[in-house]
Amino acid sequence: MASTRDAAIGEILVQPDDLQHRVRELAREISRDYEGREPLLVCVLKGAVFFLADLMRSLEVPCEVDFMAVSSYGSATQTSGVVRILKDLDASIEGRDVIIVEDIVDSGLTLQYLLRNLRARGPASLAVCALLTKPERRRVDLSPRYVGFEIADKFAIGYGLDHGERYRNLPYVAALKVEQDQAI
Ligand code: PRP
Repeated sequence: MASTRDAAIGEILVQPDDLQHRVRELAREISRDYEGREPLLVCVLKGAVFFLADLMRSLEVPCEVDFMAVSSYGSATQTSGVVRILKDLDASIEGRDVIIVEDIVDSGLTLQYLLRNLRARGPASLAVCALLTKPERRRVDLSPRYVGFEIADKFAIGYGLDHGERYRNLPYVAALKVEQDQAI
C-alpha cells in the first residue's frame, strides 16, 4: 500500500468506513430497483474496479459484469474531451439491463460518450452508478441515477482513483496535494 506519509496525499475526502457504508447502501438500493431482473454491470476501467468489486459483493440480485476501457485524460489531470475506446465489451448488451459503474464523474464528457455509445447497442435499460461526482465541474447536463458522494472540485486520489497511475490502492479518497506552481 502507498505510504500515508507520501507528501502528495492531502486531506482525506472520504474515509474508508464511509466508503464501505455508502457502497452497501447503494447496493441495497440497486437490489431493490432491479428485483426480478439480472443487471449487467459495465465497469469502466481502471478506476472503477475497486468500487465495482465492493458493490457487486453486496448486491442481492443475480448480476453479471463486463469491462470497458476508455481514455479521455492520458497522463494529464485535465480532461481532453476526446474519448477513445481502449477495450470494448466482450459481449452484446442488446436487451440487457445495463448499469455503468464509474468511479468518478467530473466534466461528464466520458459518461456522455459512454451513454451514447451503449444506448446505440439496444439495451433494455441503461443506468449509471458513480461513486463520486463533482457537480461544480460538469460540462454536460447529466445526473447519474446512483451516486455515492458529491465531492468538492479537488483532484481526488485513492479507492481506484489515480494520479499518474499511483494511489489507486489507498483505502480512502483523498485530495492530491500539489506544489503551488504545479497546475492541475
Ligand atoms: C476517469 C474516470 C472517468 C473519467 C471522468 O477516468 O474513471 O472515466 O475520468 O472524467 P470526465 O467526467 O471529466 O470525463 P480516467 O480517464 O482517469 O481513467 P482511469 O479510470 O483508468 O484512471
